Amino acid sequence: MKKLFAFALIAMFVYACGGGGSQVTAGQLEAGKKTFDKLCVACHGPTGDMNLNGAKKFSESTLGIEERIAVITNGRNMMTPYKGILNEQEIKDVAAYTIELTEAGKK
Ligand code: HEC
Repeated sequence: MKKLFAFALIAMFVYACGGGGSQVTAGQLEAGKKTFDKLCVACHGPTGDMNLNGAKKFSESTLGIEERIAVITNGRNMMTPYKGILNEQEIKDVAAYTIELTEAGKK
């Protein structure tokens, strides 16, 4: 419920701002969650805080959306690159979802 509310807030924010290239929609977060649950939970865990093999806890992440997209696309240390596995849009969606997890983890 809390999450739904957050989605609604973001959707409203996006609607209010209009235009621009980096807005996040509820549909994007939903798609991002699907990808995350399929490909990322193994190391990051369902809330992004499992910390397996040094998979950085999202609740402690300070990276912005662009930096997350870069890590997901190109990988970093133990993290596998997803270039060629996910398309650009899918990477954007899942990056936006990890931002959600960071926000949720701080509460
Ligand atoms: C094989 C285990 C593994 C999988 C699967 C994995 N990650 Fe990671 N991830 C890591 C590790 C380990 C790090 C820390 C890398 C480092 O120390 O430089 C990391 C770091 C990150 C970061 C950077 C966080 C920060 O603040 O530095 C993001 C964002 C991220 N992963 C997202 C994802 C997403 C999205 C997926 C699924 C598409 C995913 N990861 C799948 C292991 C994994």
